[in-house]
Amino acid sequence: MISQKMQQAINDQINKEFFSSYLYLAMAAHFEEQNLPGFAHWLRVQADEEREHGMKFYDFLLERGGKVALQAIAAPPQTWTSALEAFKEVQAHEAKVTASINALYELALAEKDYPAQVLLQWFVTEQVEEEKNAAEIVAQLEMIEAHGSAVLMLDHRLGKREDE
Ligand code: FEO
Repeated sequence: MISQKMQQAINDQINKEFFSSYLYLAMAAHFEEQNLPGFAHWLRVQADEEREHGMKFYDFLLERGGKVALQAIAAPPQTWTSALEAFKEVQAHEAKVTASINALYELALAEKDYPAQVLLQWFVTEQVEEEKNAAEIVAQLEMIEAHGSAVLMLDHRLGKREDE
């Protein structure tokens, strides 16, 4: 049986993952409106991934005999001034999620919750990838900021992302 502390922290993390999904869906809608469907596609795939992350925790709680307590999801912003600003927000947001996953891992160590440690190791690895992807797009946007046509090329490339 999972501890109350661990259960609460995982319920909080479910909310954070679903908020991430909401945030990226809001960004996807914004880029559709801006006629940048590649950016929108990339963010939609990312939003789906975040929902899956939330569901991993959701299923884990149920498997451990815990109680899933879904919380209200905060409204995300609706507009961004540029692709660079939006992806800087993705990068900052992922850094926050990494900190949250690390704190959960520390709690799992303190609680001697070995199954949670195994689950969280997957998330620790995943966050390395998430931060790398965001940093790469931010770096490329910074390189091409002055060249509008290059943004269109990057939009084309991001549009090729496959569902994972
Ligand atoms: Fe679920 Fe992007 O972290």
